[in-house]
Amino acid sequence: MTRDTPIVLVSNRGPATFHRDERGELVATRGGGGLVTALTGLVNHRDALWIASAMTEADAEASRRYGGRSFACQVDGTTYTVRLVESDPEAYDRFYNVVANPLLWFIQHYLWDLSNAPDIRRNEVEAYENGYCAVNADLAAAVLDEVGEGDAVVMLHDYHLYTAPRMIRRERPDLFLHHFVHIPWTQPDAWRVLPRDIREDIYEGILANDIIGFHTRSYKRNFLLCCRELFGLDVDDEAGVVRHEGREVWVRAYPLPISAESFRRTAARESVREFEEELLRRRREHLILRVDRADLSKNVLRGFTAFDLFLTQHPEFREKVTFIAQLMPSRQDVPEYVEYLERIEALVAVVNHRHGTTDWMPIHLKLRENLDEAIAAYKHYDLLIVNAMFDGMNLVAKEGPLVNERDGVSLLSENTGAHEELGEFALSVNPFDVQEQADAIHRALTMSAEERAWRSAGLKRIVTARNPGNWVDEQLRDIEAKRAGEPPPPIEAAQQPPAAERR
Ligand code: G6P
Repeated sequence: MTRDTPIVLVSNRGPATFHRDERGELVATRGGGGLVTALTGLVNHRDALWIASAMTEADAEASRRYGGRSFACQVDGTTYTVRLVESDPEAYDRFYNVVANPLLWFIQHYLWDLSNAPDIRRNEVEAYENGYCAVNADLAAAVLDEVGEGDAVVMLHDYHLYTAPRMIRRERPDLFLHHFVHIPWTQPDAWRVLPRDIREDIYEGILANDIIGFHTRSYKRNFLLCCRELFGLDVDDEAGVVRHEGREVWVRAYPLPISAESFRRTAARESVREFEEELLRRRREHLILRVDRADLSKNVLRGFTAFDLFLTQHPEFREKVTFIAQLMPSRQDVPEYVEYLERIEALVAVVNHRHGTTDWMPIHLKLRENLDEAIAAYKHYDLLIVNAMFDGMNLVAKEGPLVNERDGVSLLSENTGAHEELGEFALSVNPFDVQEQADAIHRALTMSAEERAWRSAGLKRIVTARNPGNWVDEQLRDIEAKRAGEPPPPIEAAQQPPAAERR
């Protein structure tokens, strides 16, 4: 592939979300979540056009201003070329709030409580056909329009876009299609929740790609297993290849790194320092921190229950520790998410009531998105809690240790993608085992300075070893190899299993 081959990125959430300020002007702020972080790294490394959904009315207005075509837009120091695609609002609502976020997200994080939900009715099936597929068709059409007759590498992202690749492939069999899935790929039975037609349609959609990438080897293995078990496809596990409709699809693992350089730069901002001063004024002897989207997969409730248990079992820590939980409200049009936030607030009230005193509030809940405030807390925690039930990668687990200045310890769920890389230097926990998490909190807060320093140095070493440029290059190298008709290269050093697994 020459460096001139245009790259077209496609995702649901784009780099910028528009809203109107007090004066009625359209202003752009950075889109949230791991995907935007990843693709920003990519854009900083290679020129690319980024096609995304217009998710809000203000996004749609911004898009109309440019006649629905692409435009340049600057957010947080990066200039993006974006095209925001408007869909019918009702179709978009079904796509995002009925199919992508509850149905698929829950399947891919094992979140369904299957004795209760989901009930698949006509509403869900219609939402798939007239919502999910309709929005995928809109984005596919925008890709075809931008590419025209020319060559391009199209890089699609995440669970919102499983059917678009086939739609593009039908029109342009020659285009190179690459898909990166930012969330876990679950084992075959989890997918049996979907009606067979929908399940087949989704797999046929994603298998229209040339390469499918995941964050970890275990998601890659699950995907290959699903292809064999659910559809009887011809799968080569060793090479990571699925044969489908006369084509070879490569399935690869590319763990996403953070950009240490740019994150450190952000951490040095004056606005971060102001939050630090405030934090240091109020801090007790120990500070525990979690930073998450308020998502069911993040396991916020068990984290607070573990803290509750810790305070009960170790009363000597009362008044000496504060747990700051900075949670960004998310997907509030999905009833499960609204209920989850309510349960979080209720549990925090119970724990604070049980242990708190007139001048000590054990849990400080901050329900807002504020990167500067989060980074200020990253610098000064003694313990970072990342106890997600299942999580594609989890960048908080990487960002925290990078800028932390106190040899802070990480409590890390073994079911996060980040655990494949960081597990050795973190306190690994089973996210369902509340007692184990309470014990890990105690262990972290009583650990010797030497052990803290050793763990912290190990984490810093790993999170600075690769950068988003490497992540992009690994993928472009594979794209180049496949376009040249070469066999799949052996796995990269960066993707080697840890020593324990290699034995
Ligand atoms: C995860 C997903 C992304 C998504 C992000 C934020 O990181 O993998 O695709 O964009 O969460 O979720 P939202 O629904 O707000 O875009």
